[in-house]
Amino acid sequence: CEGGSLSIVVLGASGDLAKKKIFPALLHLYRQGFLPPSEVHIFGYARSKITDEELRERIRGPFIQAKDAMPGDFETVSKFLQLIKYVSGFYDTEKGFRLLDEEISKVECGSSRRLFYLALPPSVYPSVCKMIKHCCMSKSDNGGWTRIVVEKPFGKDTDSAEKLSAQIGELFEESQVYRIDHYLGKELVQNLLVLRFANRFFVPLWNRDNIDNIQIVFREDFGTEGRGGYFDEYGIIRDIIQNHLLQVLCLVAMEKPISLKPEHIRDEKVKVLQSVLSIKDEEVVLGQYEGYTSDPTVPDDSNTPTFATVILRIHSERWEGVPFIIKAGKALNSRKAEIRVQFKDIPGDIFKCKKLGRNEFVIRLQPPEAMYMKFMVKQPGLEMATVQSELDLSYRQRYQGITIPEAYERLILDTIRGDQQHFVRRDELKAAWEIFTPLLHKIDGGQLSPIPYKQGSRGPAAADELLVNAGYVQTHGYIWIPPTL
Ligand code: BG6
Repeated sequence: CEGGSLSIVVLGASGDLAKKKIFPALLHLYRQGFLPPSEVHIFGYARSKITDEELRERIRGPFIQAKDAMPGDFETVSKFLQLIKYVSGFYDTEKGFRLLDEEISKVECGSSRRLFYLALPPSVYPSVCKMIKHCCMSKSDNGGWTRIVVEKPFGKDTDSAEKLSAQIGELFEESQVYRIDHYLGKELVQNLLVLRFANRFFVPLWNRDNIDNIQIVFREDFGTEGRGGYFDEYGIIRDIIQNHLLQVLCLVAMEKPISLKPEHIRDEKVKVLQSVLSIKDEEVVLGQYEGYTSDPTVPDDSNTPTFATVILRIHSERWEGVPFIIKAGKALNSRKAEIRVQFKDIPGDIFKCKKLGRNEFVIRLQPPEAMYMKFMVKQPGLEMATVQSELDLSYRQRYQGITIPEAYERLILDTIRGDQQHFVRRDELKAAWEIFTPLLHKIDGGQLSPIPYKQGSRGPAAADELLVNAGYVQTHGYIWIPPTL
């Protein structure tokens, strides 16, 4: 055991997040050799009284049925499952955690590295953190460590988030806390830094002199099926915008960090958040899809938005006057997440470009991953006609044979390696809540209400009007078609 031992503890092991995301991510890491069985032990912890074998069976099902299951997988999965042990216990009493500590200690040798993944509702974070601190910390200082990974929702507004941060902060150093936002693990989100700061093309263009508006859009073509109860307490702003889309905005808008060190990058992200001006009510459109309240776990008079378009304005030399149009919605007519940078009209236009549309640079986060630049070319042929075309970097076509890792896989590997670059720092979280808290309080208090929209539509028409008022010009007659292989 030269490298010491690494124990990964998944708390909430019998839950949905663990089953759908965490265990599959661990399997992928195992398959690629990142979790050598000589060093690694995985523990599931939850309240249910089940055996090791029962937990393994619950986890096995989705792997074997997975559409990307490969030949030989059956054996790999079986070997992987043998690394998993289960410990049952409560989240607020020491008994179970003492037992967990005993089980971990039994398999450890050399330096002890312990990673606790809290796949749990945040209401139990404080007690679970206390139990870990009292009963389960790594006892070796020669390369040993204890880290905890927590998932959103981190509170419901600035005060509740700060309270939670303070409770965790009393027990763990910031360097031990990994606040996960899985959008930061997506390939094209991680690419933003390279794109912006390693390309001479973009350096002179990325500012208010050239860019008219930027949209950051998340659309899903399904509703809150099965999660209505959770969703209704939070709504689309807390579920998607305050975290995932705001993180993307930071990477799009931030200044160049002085180095790639995680703290340097996070310092720049915080500055962006602190420069966002107060949101104006007239720059918000909320929606709720028809039928949302027929879910039995959602109250009939729910005021919770399932759709929102919000314009954010950044008070800085680079971005003054450029609207960042943030849009997210459930039960819409398509599923995608993208960043759309729309450039200003060409000055002294001699080609009537205005009629054809503006230059746009689109970063399609999913699906499929792509970047394309919409620009003008001469229509090939005898006539001197101008037409929109594209420079297209579609990942599936350009990077054939390369599997893009899942966000969770990458982020868990980062936690093992101790790299906090793609995790949200405490001050960053606070600044993010400060932007949305006044708006959220107005919605919670019923001062702002969502407009009903049809399932499978574009959302409320008022949102499109807001887009136009903000300066976005829609291109007519051109559609980007992802290349087929
Ligand atoms: C989660 C939200 O954080 O992100 C869900 O809680 C949403 O409501 C999901 O569906 C979207 O993630 P992805 O990776 O499918 O875009």
